[in-house]
Amino acid sequence: MQINTHLQQLKDNYLFTEIANRTQAYQRVHPEAHVLRLGIGDVTLPLPSVIIDAMHRAVDELAHVETFRGYGPEEGYHWLRQAIIDNDYVPRGIHLTPEEVFISDGAGSDLGNLSDLFDTANTVAILEPSYPAYVDTSRMAGRQIIWLPCLEQNNFYPDLPAQKADILYLCFPNNPTGTTLTKDQLQRFVDYALAHKSIIIFDSAYEIFIEDPDVPHSIYELEGAKQVAIEIRSYSKTAGFTGVRCGYTIVPKETGLQQMWYRRQCTKYNGTSYISQRGAEAIYSPEGKAQVMSNIHHYKQTAQLIANGLRDLGYDVWGGKNAPYVWCRTPHGMDSWSFFDSLLEQCQVVCTPGVGFGTLGEGFVRFSAFSDRKEVEEALKRMQTIA
Ligand code: MLT
Repeated sequence: MQINTHLQQLKDNYLFTEIANRTQAYQRVHPEAHVLRLGIGDVTLPLPSVIIDAMHRAVDELAHVETFRGYGPEEGYHWLRQAIIDNDYVPRGIHLTPEEVFISDGAGSDLGNLSDLFDTANTVAILEPSYPAYVDTSRMAGRQIIWLPCLEQNNFYPDLPAQKADILYLCFPNNPTGTTLTKDQLQRFVDYALAHKSIIIFDSAYEIFIEDPDVPHSIYELEGAKQVAIEIRSYSKTAGFTGVRCGYTIVPKETGLQQMWYRRQCTKYNGTSYISQRGAEAIYSPEGKAQVMSNIHHYKQTAQLIANGLRDLGYDVWGGKNAPYVWCRTPHGMDSWSFFDSLLEQCQVVCTPGVGFGTLGEGFVRFSAFSDRKEVEEALKRMQTIA
């Protein structure tokens, strides 16, 4: 037996595991401390009641022989796939068939699983800084990475790859910087992919935060994108499903990958739980939409509170509009982990060190608007003492 040695090249700990370990270590020494968590983007509001009711009904169905369900379709139930098309795409003039919609257990798994579709010799373009899963997934497969720097000078907007990239991971609204692309800016990437016969894996987990009319909600709003893009969405951040687990992936037939992905899923994935899918379906009811948007409105306000609060304290910040993350430069040229440690030690506040998203994240930290509002207010108050 030979192990996959590529895995040995990963950092010892995944970013959010390292943050959790450091936070726990601090809490062991200071059990009395009330640590405020503004680090990982995990939702804090409970699930909307309409979703809870739908999941209760689904559980009850499973209790009776007449309504019991066992294995579902690997690609998800037709009623949810159709609801996705009707609500998330048709209103934007995008027409998909249910065979192109694959229900998943969230964005994270499919971001990695899609790797199965492509030869390991393919080169991968990844924004830097970026959500670490794209990098880890590519490294696990031993693929060569081409970095697309996102620098403060250009508002964290990436340029096209200078050399040929076979696969491009794009995430907009961006995690961690909160940057968005206009239609024209995203079209450049689609045109690049068309010209180079590349594929874009478009992580659209934060789509619901978009407010500006010029920012596309789906990559399929762009000319030619159905030939070159796979879009990944998640209910984690939209509807509070980080624990429930449900999302979806669009693989258009025009990519030539739809049948391959279906075949792959039939072997390796037994489907998302019936209960989660019924919960997701409820998001698309009129009541569901209203309740979900009320939660999103709350998080958007929290994002503004963090961004404005940090600005008032003298920090340089980006994001927080069209996105739930606020990207903040560390003071006095401190490196990301030193600032993380001092914020934890002096204020008992947890953030995410920017360098955890790549070397170009060094000198920045990220704050999450999914945090509890009262904890955010308290965190900003405590941070006055170190401003
Ligand atoms: C983040 O904090 O970047 C994300 O919430 C983590 C995740 O989605 O896995």
